[in-house]
Amino acid sequence: MTTARVVVDRDFTVGPVPHRLFGSFVEHMGRCVYTGIYEPGHPSADEQGFRTDVLELVRELGPTVVRYPGGNFVSGYRWTDGIGPVEERPRRLEGAWHTVESNAFGLHEFVAWARTAGVEVMEAINLGTAGVEEARALVEYANHPGGTYWSDLRRRNGAEEPFDIRLWCLGNEMDGPWQIGHKTAEEYGRLAQEAAKAMRLVDPGLELVACGSSNSRMPTFGAWEQTVLSHAYDEVDFISLHAYYQEHEGDVASFLACAYDTDYFIESVVATADAVGAKRKSTKRINLSFDEWNVWYQRGQETEDQLHQLVKQPWREHPRLIEDTYNVTDAVVVGTLLNSLLRHGDRVTVANQAQLVNVIAPIRSEEGGPAWRQTIFHPFAQTARLARGQIMRTAVTSDRHHSDRFGDVDTVDVACTWDEGTGRLALFLANRGLEEASDVEVVLRGLQAGADGLTGRVLTVPEDGDRFTANTEDAQDRVGLSDLPVDVQDGSVRVSLPPLSWACVEVPVTTA
Ligand code: AHR
Repeated sequence: MTTARVVVDRDFTVGPVPHRLFGSFVEHMGRCVYTGIYEPGHPSADEQGFRTDVLELVRELGPTVVRYPGGNFVSGYRWTDGIGPVEERPRRLEGAWHTVESNAFGLHEFVAWARTAGVEVMEAINLGTAGVEEARALVEYANHPGGTYWSDLRRRNGAEEPFDIRLWCLGNEMDGPWQIGHKTAEEYGRLAQEAAKAMRLVDPGLELVACGSSNSRMPTFGAWEQTVLSHAYDEVDFISLHAYYQEHEGDVASFLACAYDTDYFIESVVATADAVGAKRKSTKRINLSFDEWNVWYQRGQETEDQLHQLVKQPWREHPRLIEDTYNVTDAVVVGTLLNSLLRHGDRVTVANQAQLVNVIAPIRSEEGGPAWRQTIFHPFAQTARLARGQIMRTAVTSDRHHSDRFGDVDTVDVACTWDEGTGRLALFLANRGLEEASDVEVVLRGLQAGADGLTGRVLTVPEDGDRFTANTEDAQDRVGLSDLPVDVQDGSVRVSLPPLSWACVEVPVTTA
């Protein structure tokens, strides 16, 4: 057995839980849109063609904001293809994922879907093949009340009221050589600055995200952020980060510890953004939009040649692309990634798990068939539901173990929030140890734990399974949550985490 001791002090807070930290992402890629959220003719489809079985799961998952329409897709996308009468919309060859895009689903459909799902829209613009003119036209179309060319076109297309989209991404992964219209940091920094300026001249209330690095291993990481922000610092509000993780060659210890990379990535981008601000003597602070993160098994998709093979099939509409099936280990990792985001919630104020349905997603669906929860659904849904109020700074003393990539790492990973209004403290805990349970003691200072409403839920290896056990169409609930006993002794909260587990604990507290 291993042990961990966590101290939570009511006076040591990071900041409020950002509402937009629990975002998701819908890209025109594979089956995320078509046969994912949208499938006219499906037995559960509503009159707009939205799958209500998927919508129910989305509501249970609890994303607050959803990024759309890409991703790599957006860098070749003409947003005007997706408006107006559906039968008149052009069918296009889509280069990023080598598919035929019917454009049956576009901006109006997405806004309607987002309203039905109860999520905020985060819209990405094309800065690959398009530029300033298309961007400001889109803002006028989406947000201007009426009486101008683009806003009146929106009204003629059936939306009398503006969409009022606040949050916008200025392109996608423009640092990546794979991106259509890839740019150098200088080229992109200037373009982002000018696009931002022009978009704000149409609607001054926009919140704008500049592209940061596609991952922390990009050769340009650091220099990219520095150059882009040296141009666009005054015009943008956020810089983005993307990160995907997977288990490499059986190195499960490093995979389970990949939140160390997330911590490093976030802290490096904060330092770089603040250094640019300091040099400019600016009082403005750039926050972080971690607008793509997840586990993604990219084995065989790392090189351009391999990616080419993956997508270079005959041209098809919404083919199956990267429909990863997630297991218990992946769910524990996702729990730790959410913990990392929470711990940095003073600066990471937007984050989007990529993606929502089918494509590396917590929700899977089959055409004409069922929809179900993947293992990674559970840590996301519980964290989005329970993380409220203030993020607490935790002092953790945990047993440690070795990982090849990060050296010695804490066996137990923790994040904590406290909602003074409801008197609920929430603990999010992961045991990275594969063999041993971990006894965790949480010492509360300035807070008194009660017993009424004390609850614990845990996700771990099922009795008849192993760490690779997953939920599938035929066994949709093999991996889920079960009750976790929680004790309060001498004012401390005590739980025993099973080997390889993720848990959430709700503690009723009063101020002491
Ligand atoms: O989410 C899948 C892809 O990953 C996105 O299109 C791209 O932005 C990233 O590389």
